[in-house]
Amino acid sequence: MSSAQIEPVRLTIGPDIYRDLRSVAEAGRVVPVLLHGTVKVWFLTRAADIAEAAVDPRLSADDAHLAGKDSAHRSSVKVALMGMDGPAHLERRRILMAPFSPRQISHLAPRIQLLADELVAAILPAGRADLVNSVSLPLSLRVICELLGIPLSERPRFEAAVNKVFLPSANAESEEIVRAAREELYRYFTDLTNQKDSFPESSLLALLKQEESLTPRDLIESATLILFTGYETTANFIGNALLALLKNPEELQLLRAHPSKTAQAVEELLRYCGPVATGPTRYTREEVVIGGSRIPAGERVILGFGCANRDAARFDAPDRLNIEARRDPHFAFGRGPHYCLGAALAKVESEIGIRTIVDRLEDLELDGEPVWRASFLHGLERLPVKYRSKRSEDDR
Ligand code: HEM
Repeated sequence: MSSAQIEPVRLTIGPDIYRDLRSVAEAGRVVPVLLHGTVKVWFLTRAADIAEAAVDPRLSADDAHLAGKDSAHRSSVKVALMGMDGPAHLERRRILMAPFSPRQISHLAPRIQLLADELVAAILPAGRADLVNSVSLPLSLRVICELLGIPLSERPRFEAAVNKVFLPSANAESEEIVRAAREELYRYFTDLTNQKDSFPESSLLALLKQEESLTPRDLIESATLILFTGYETTANFIGNALLALLKNPEELQLLRAHPSKTAQAVEELLRYCGPVATGPTRYTREEVVIGGSRIPAGERVILGFGCANRDAARFDAPDRLNIEARRDPHFAFGRGPHYCLGAALAKVESEIGIRTIVDRLEDLELDGEPVWRASFLHGLERLPVKYRSKRSEDDR
């Protein structure tokens, strides 16, 4: 059957994205969707179809395959690697992989713990805080600074520019301010990469500098890619996970009582409230039939990772957060050749961030309404909470 004649479902990415995704999934396996009232996409909603489509070479990550007038709406965020296919993609991925090895991540873990301890210690005395701005965002950005090898003295300038470029919705900055910050960031990377021995050995930028096949421009693009893919995603996830735990107190209690369950809790939370809820776009190189629907060449297909994670055919009681459930692997980090390069890092960082908060803040509860961020990623702009500090009790 062709779904071409079916009236498209209108989808605007809003605060309750998983509820909206449920309504898309209820409309069918492969659903024509009008995103934000303008962009026509074919939305894949079933885990089995998405797993297959993610490895189907007829679906390209490169929007050069968009046909006709639709090509006028090409993505404005074209980032190296994510828009590449085949051997060229594999080769670029290979170059970027070294700093993400389990060995490198285990070296980074004590440093991540220190950063998390520092951030949580700073909010202890007040007894209330916004966990997004005071913990999850700075933790995520500082871990990326560590990974890239940004010198400590440069971080305030670097972090300020990054926040203007990569979190425009948070700051509601004008286009001009964002453009100026983007140029500043570009100049900053150029200066840094021109300096001799500017990065600590084994940092990502030092490793990339040794790669002869990379031009200085490639190097800057790669650093930008890491910020684009790693910053808001991980910060959002930690915020989403904390909110989900606050709304499911028995699960929070379970996690408090059993620190050894943190890793499995993070897996379940990634499935339940991962930040890449709608999923990435692919472009059909030729006509394809997916889930019984015929999709012409040159069209957009969305791999609905958030729908896959709530697909009852794959996960029992999928709308319930259940840390102890034994489940199949989730789709929060994607599938296939573009599987998240930073997945191991994101998991370690989230485990440390969530654990540190759960351990140090007692009687943690919401202190007002959480505010969702207007972004294509699912995440909070503010998570106001109040708590007692565990240390202040020990001191008594
Ligand atoms: C909870 C946090 C994160 C989530 C949920 C997440 C999710 C994803 C997903 C779904 C993809 C696949 C996109 C696609 O199929 O086109 C992806 C790709 C990617 N992620 Fe992550 N990510 C997270 C954190 C990170 C971090 C911390 C880094 C690096 C510091 C990172 C680096 C990347 C890169 C480089 C890619 C592109 C891979 C490629 O195209 O080959 N991610 N991520």
